[in-house]
Parts: sequence; C-alpha cells; structure tokens
Amino acid sequence: MSLVHEIDYGTPLSRAEKTITLTIDGCSVTVPEGTSIMRAAMELGTKIPKLCATDMTEAFGSCRLCLVEVKGRAGTPASCTTPVAPDMVVRTQTDRLKRLRRGVMELYISDHPLDCLTCSANGDCELQDMAGAVGLRDVRYGYDGAKHRNPGKDESNPYFAYDPSKCIVCSRCVRACEEVQGTFALTIAGRGFDSVVSPGMEESFLSSECVSCGACVQACPTATLNEKSIIEIGTPEHSVVTTCAYCGVGCSFKAEMRGDEVVRMVPYKNGKANRGHSCVKGRFAWGYTTHKDRVLNPMIREKITEPWREVSWDEAITHTANEFKRIQAKYGKRSIGGITSSRCTNEETFLVQKLVRAGFGNNNVDTCARVCHSPTGYGLKTTFGTSAGTQDFDSVEHSDVVVVLGANPTDGHPVFASRLKKRLRRGCKLIVIDPRRIDLVRMPHVEAAYHLPLLPGTNVAVLTALAHVIVTEGLANETFVRERCDWDEYEDWAAFVSQPQNSPEIVAKYSGVPAETIRGAARLYATGGNAAFYYGLGVTEHSQGSTAVMAIANLAMATGNIGRPGVGVNPLRGQNNVQGSCDMGSFPHELSGYRHISEDATRAMFETLWGAQLDNEPGLRIPNMLDAAVDGTFKGLYVQGEDILQSDPNTKHVAAGLAAMECVVVHDLFLNETANYAHIFLPGSTFLEKDGTFTNAERRIQRVRKVMAPRNGFADWEITLAIAKAMGFDMHYGHPSQIMDEIARLTPTFAAVSYEKLDELGSVQWPCNEQAPAGTPVMHMSGFVRGKGKFVITEYVPTDEKTGPRFPLLLTTGRILSQYNVGAQTRRTANVVWHDEDRLEIHPHDAEERGVRDGDWVKLASRAGETTLRALITERVAPGVVYTTFHHPNTQANVVTTEFSDWATNCPEYKVTAVQISPSNGPTEWQEEYEQLARTSRRVLADAEAAG
Ligand code: SF4
Ligand code: SF4
Ligand code: SF4
Ligand code: FES
Repeated sequence: MSLVHEIDYGTPLSRAEKTITLTIDGCSVTVPEGTSIMRAAMELGTKIPKLCATDMTEAFGSCRLCLVEVKGRAGTPASCTTPVAPDMVVRTQTDRLKRLRRGVMELYISDHPLDCLTCSANGDCELQDMAGAVGLRDVRYGYDGAKHRNPGKDESNPYFAYDPSKCIVCSRCVRACEEVQGTFALTIAGRGFDSVVSPGMEESFLSSECVSCGACVQACPTATLNEKSIIEIGTPEHSVVTTCAYCGVGCSFKAEMRGDEVVRMVPYKNGKANRGHSCVKGRFAWGYTTHKDRVLNPMIREKITEPWREVSWDEAITHTANEFKRIQAKYGKRSIGGITSSRCTNEETFLVQKLVRAGFGNNNVDTCARVCHSPTGYGLKTTFGTSAGTQDFDSVEHSDVVVVLGANPTDGHPVFASRLKKRLRRGCKLIVIDPRRIDLVRMPHVEAAYHLPLLPGTNVAVLTALAHVIVTEGLANETFVRERCDWDEYEDWAAFVSQPQNSPEIVAKYSGVPAETIRGAARLYATGGNAAFYYGLGVTEHSQGSTAVMAIANLAMATGNIGRPGVGVNPLRGQNNVQGSCDMGSFPHELSGYRHISEDATRAMFETLWGAQLDNEPGLRIPNMLDAAVDGTFKGLYVQGEDILQSDPNTKHVAAGLAAMECVVVHDLFLNETANYAHIFLPGSTFLEKDGTFTNAERRIQRVRKVMAPRNGFADWEITLAIAKAMGFDMHYGHPSQIMDEIARLTPTFAAVSYEKLDELGSVQWPCNEQAPAGTPVMHMSGFVRGKGKFVITEYVPTDEKTGPRFPLLLTTGRILSQYNVGAQTRRTANVVWHDEDRLEIHPHDAEERGVRDGDWVKLASRAGETTLRALITERVAPGVVYTTFHHPNTQANVVTTEFSDWATNCPEYKVTAVQISPSNGPTEWQEEYEQLARTSRRVLADAEAAG
C-alpha cells in the first residue's frame, strides 16, 4: 500500500462545452474554454511551479512563480490567471523564466525559518518542493533581513495549529474558507510586508467564526496550518480510500496511516458526494475508534442489576443463541426480533434482517430510520414510486431557487451546505421554512429571500397554502402535469388546495407566518426557474410527517420541478447509512428494494436462495415491539448499533419495554444507554475496521474499506453470521463482497452493483441495473417510477399535542455541527470543546417572563416527563418556541417527548412537544440516578480492564 496522491491541477476544472486547442512546450492540448494555462499544462503532465494556486479555489495570481511566455505577448503572464486561447503557443521553461522564478523563491526563502529537518511538513511541503523545482541553490539576500509580522503560534483549535512564522501569505487558506467552506472566518490583516493571516478580528481560531472544517489546513502549502496529529505522529506513509461514518452526505476520505495508526483523514477529491471537502466530524473526530471506553470483550449477566462478566466470543454467541431459542420455545416464534443500524454497512444490515426473517422465522425487524426518515420512504413511494431522494448533490449547481424546509444544513449536513452556499453566492434564491432562524437565513454573503418561521406542527398547512397560491394564481405547470401525472387526481388536488381554508390569509392565523410571506415564497418557487426542495427531520418527525412529504412532492409535480438537474425533492438523511438500511429491507413489511413481504413471487425468490420459509405477515415496528414487551408477549431483542433508550421517544416507555424482556443483546462500540438494560453485550467494530458499503442521501453506494484490524476481533457482519450459525441457520460468506453479490441477485435496483464496479467507478447511485449500468444520478427523468405521478390530498390535521396553561411552550429539537446524534462517538473526541452539554434555547421574552437568565439551570417539563438543562437566551427561536439538541445522555431530551407519531409510519413526533420551563437548582432525581448508573458501569469496566 502507498499514499494515494491526487493531482493538484492548480485551478478548478472548467465545465464549458466549447474546447480550445493550444500548444504548450511544443505539445498540442485541447481543453474546455476557460481553462487556465497552468491547468492545460498539467493535463499534459507539465507541472508549472506554483505556490498561491490550488485547484480547490479560483486563481489568485499573487506569488508570481507560475510565469510563462506566450508567443506574441509581451511580458511573462501568470499561468494560473491566464486563460487559454485558440492556437496559443506557450513556453513554460526558458532561461528567462528560470531566472525570474528563482528570484521569486529567493525572496520567499529569505524570510522563512529554515528548520526543514524538524518541521512537521518536512517531505510534504510545497515551499520545499518549489525550491527544488526552480533549482534554488543560493539566497543572495541572506536570511537576516526583516521578518514578517508574527503574532505567535495559535494552538487553540484542538485539531490543528497555526504557526505564522511559516506563512508565505499566499491566501490559499483565506480563499478556501471563503470559496470551499463559505464561512469567511479568515482575513489577511495588516498591509504589505506586515500582512498576516488572521481568524476574525485577530482572534484565536477557537474563539473566531471558524467551524474547524479544515479546508484551510488542506489548502496551506506550508506547515503554517498543520494537523496536530501530523505534528505528533509524523507524516503518513500509506492511505486507504473510505467513506465517512457520520452524516448522510457520505464524504469520501483518504485515511492516511502510519502502520495501523490513522494520522489524518483527508477528503478525497474524487469523492462524488463531497468533491474534496469535509466537516469537522469526518476530518477530525475519528478518535473514538481508539477511545478507552470502547468495550473489546463480550460480556454477559443474568440480570440487569448484576455486574457484567467478561466471556469468550464462543460463550457469548452460544449464550445468545440459546437464550433466543429458549425464549422462542417458551413464548413462540414471534417473541423475539432485531433492530438494524443506519450506522452499519449495507451488508451488515442485510445480514441482520436476513437473520431475523430466516433465522428467527418472523419479520420483527426494524431500523432507526423508523425514528427519522420513514415518512420519506412512505411519502415518496406513494407519489413518485421510489422511497428515495430524486437528485445528486451536483444538481444544486443548476438550481435557481432552493427551499430548505425543516433542516439545518450548516449543522446537520455541512458539506452539502457549503455547496449550497456557493450556489447561493452565485445568485440562486433561498426560501427557508423553519421555526428557528437557522444560520442560512442570514450569514456572510447569504441571505434568504424569504424565511417562513412557522410554528412547530404546521408544516402541512403552510405547504398546502403554498400550493393554494400556485394553483389560484395560475402558476402551475399544467403541461407538465398533463404529460407526467394523473390529471384527474391533479384536478381533485387543485380543487382541494384552492379552498379558502387553505389560503395564506387563513393559514397565517395559526402558523404564525404572514400571508404575504407565504404568497411571495410560493411565487418565487413556482416562477423562479429550477426550484428544488431540501428537507430534513423537521418535516418527517411529526404526526403528519408522511403527509408533509407528499405535500412537497405535490408542489414539485404541480410546478414541473422534478425530473432534471437543479430541481427535485431531496431528503437530507441524518445518519450515514439510513438510506442503505431502508434499501436493505430493514422494515418489518419490506424486503430489500422496498418489496412488500406479502408479495408471493418476491418472497419465493428469497426463500429459494436462502433455503428458508419466510413469514408473509409484516412483523413488529420498534414501538410495537416495546408495547408487546410491556404486555408480556415480546421477550428478546438483538440491537445492532442503535441506542434506542436515548434516541427513541418517551424514554420511560422504552425503559419499561426493555426491562420487561428476558434477553436484550446490545451489539455496539460502547456501553450505551440501552446496554443498561442488556443481558449480553457484543463489542462492535468501527467503520475503520471493516469492509462494506454505505449509501448516502443521494442513493450513492460507496465503499467502506478496512484500514485497520477490528480491535474487538471481528467485523460486525462476522458476529451476525456467528449468531445465525449458532441458531442453526448457517450463512456462508467469506467477504462482504459476496453479501453484496447476493443483494444484487435479490434486488432489482442493485442488480448491477458489485465491488468491482464500485472500485472501477468510485461509486454508483441506485437504480444500477441493466437499464442503468452506471447508476442513476437524477430520477424520474422521462417518467415516474410508478408510472403517472400521484397527487395526494394533504388535509391539515393539527397534532393532538397542544399547548395549554400547564405546558404553554412548544419544544422542537435538532443537531449541532460538532456533535452527532446521541453523541456516542463525538462526545469521545475533542469536539466537546464546542458543545459539552445540551442547552435550551429560549426567546428573551419567554425567559424574562419566567425569571430565567442566560446560563441558568431550568426544568423542562412535558406531560411525558421532565429533565433539566441550562438556558441559552436567543432570538433564533420565536416567542412561544424552545429548542434543544439531544447529544448528551445526561440531558435525555427524549424524556419529555411524547408517544405521538406519524399516522403512516409511527415516526415519533419529536419536533412538537408542549412544555413548560421553570427555574431549577440543577439535575433532577433521575439524572442523578443516571449519573450514578453510568459511574458504576464505568467503574466495572475499569475494574475488568485492570484485572486484565
Ligand atoms: S477550518 Fe474551515 S472554517 Fe475554520 S478557518 Fe479553516 S477553512 Fe475556515
Ligand atoms: S497560512 Fe498557509 S495558506 Fe494561509 S496564507 Fe499562510 S502559507 Fe498561505
Ligand atoms: S459528517 Fe457528513 S458532512 Fe461531515 S465529513 Fe462526514 S459525511 Fe461529510
Ligand atoms: S501560482 Fe500563479 S501567481 Fe501564484
């Protein structure tokens, strides 16, 4: 294995269709119009010396190292800023150019600390490389002249250091922050010789606007901005391309290693989801893989009140199988089930559902998508025929109008947010529909044309009001509808949305959004050109989540904004493989590829290949499993990579369900909250320790490649295999690629997917089959998968969760950039410097009314339960609305969320809970108890570790 080196072409790729032919050093080259001479030369393999240029950002032309001669032109233009022209004749190596370049390098080097041998970038430094490339042998000015201003090292960021003494003021970092990340955190402070890179107003990186994405570190050609891991460990010596295991963007990374130690993660430029960018989590927050809290040996206990006992893998697997067999013998076949994980690979997820269906002999399998995007599956399948988003991320570059609804991309899907911001800076219009004033509403160089700050729970009403404006003002695209959709259903829908009760004026009264704002947004969406919806859990996690998804689909069809680049309906998936876990047949009623378990022909295909009879009745969903457990009919559960106690609603009910079971098997990295109720703990492996695939929010299937051996001894798929075998259902796979081959055989949308294809193409978006062998970037291009697009009437039914005198405020929840879901991974990294506790955002008026000051402990109570956390007073939330994140187990926001859920899918209504806030002295009794329990678990683990 060696380091994967990606070529830096110096300037970005031009996407112009017209091409230009020119001659460089006697060789002819043809490139797209708008290409720089520097990039054209690189296409020929000619590396023109450069310092300020990188293909991450537009050319800047400041270092003057890349000079060339162009026949017929005076002077020596910079090749990075000079575009090619027809029949241009360029020379890159003449005596004059050599002389000039050496002169430039002499100036740089005369002001540079020449401590190369002990410098962290030694061997990976472009300044060093360029000194070599121009043949610098002497510095006529000496090294004792004036030095640039040096404000001293800044080591405030936990992951990278800034050493201005090495800065050549090339501005690559500043431009990366602006153009790639879109944060504008850096500036060049001072003038002329005194110029220096500065975060914000000469602040530290940590206290500035910097979001620690690392783009500047990647862009820096010297050791000025350098990963601390490189400083500590040294330069990497081999790398493996893999996929981030955090959010649904699915960034591709080079894991750069020394031996089996990860030195750094570098976003992979050829990654089609991220195009060489990443966020703080993927690039830096991988330390949890070697965290001391990881449990590496299996453990069992008879009762959850007893301490854990470490056992061999053999004993743990045999005990698991015996317990499940015992329970089934006593309580019946359907008394056990399994939960698949959206953090695990497609192959692992496929195996867990196969174990349940064929090994357990029932369909009691569900997945964490139940609590996030199950309404997306239902809504998009009903209207379009496919349970997935319609576009690729590149599509946003063709959008003229973007609607962000119930999502906070800068925190939840940061790399997509950076691409969106770039498009917005280039003139695309933005509509934000969200109870909170999320960052995108107004940030540097981005301002939403409309912000619809609706009250939580009124999505369907507002979406239908948008439709009302479009239909009643004659803005619908009837030509598209006649051609592509069921016209009769459209007419019914159009008549429904046109009713007066759906007008913006009426909806404004209870949604809180002014009628004119709704009208303006509707007109912009319908007439502004290519318009696309991007939405998140603020749409799905409602009692009408599925209805809202269908309301979005209705709008896209009515305006013809579907079936080409730049438009579409795009769910921003939460977890890395939530799309994949759904695709793989994790729902109790569906086999892989979303085929109903009751379809005889489909079931027969699986039965033949698996050699097992399958139940034709859908099994239990997670909430039904818990209900059945409380009722005494469901007794055993295998949970892989999912912490249902922390992530599912109404924590008390989840705890009661788990406590009522006779065998709970938790298969995870850490002793999570659910493990407090487990009888068997099977250590899991991280994404760095296994092979497989993840499928991101674009339906893009990407390889996960093993970079180190599993510290627990086995990859997760091997453990599921062992349980199946011990239960008497033997599955035979030598490698996850064979599992993918089986998935392809059984799943029409995956028919042409194989590891060979993924290695060849990098990634593919399903459907990938005979009709689309290279995958499908944009769906429904010439027709909907279901045939005619289906308009669905979206009657607004207010949630039963109502505010009143006892609970007058509405709580909604969300994520923060530096943390991920229940925080099991990110809380075990230095990301805690940005967010070490969940806070309750409350509007100043509501805070004042209750005598709450910023930072005070407050009690957050609903009819389901109560918790305490500290207050953050902010106008980001409207009066009457409060907001919190759910990353920290000692807060457990889900203690207060209720049992209400989406009518179609049971997705919990996390986004609307009636609550009251009151001052508090600190943690509640159960929080104290929780801390006590967690402390005990930690002590038991530490004792076990000490005992060897
Ligand atoms: S880490 Fe990212 S946000 Fe921070 S300064 Fe660098 S480019 Fe900007
Ligand atoms: S910090 Fe690095 S990228 Fe930024 S100006 Fe200095 S040398 Fe260039
Ligand atoms: S968390 Fe999401 S945006 Fe960040 S690097 Fe991973 S996949 Fe990319
Ligand atoms: S690389 Fe062209 S001017 Fe710096």
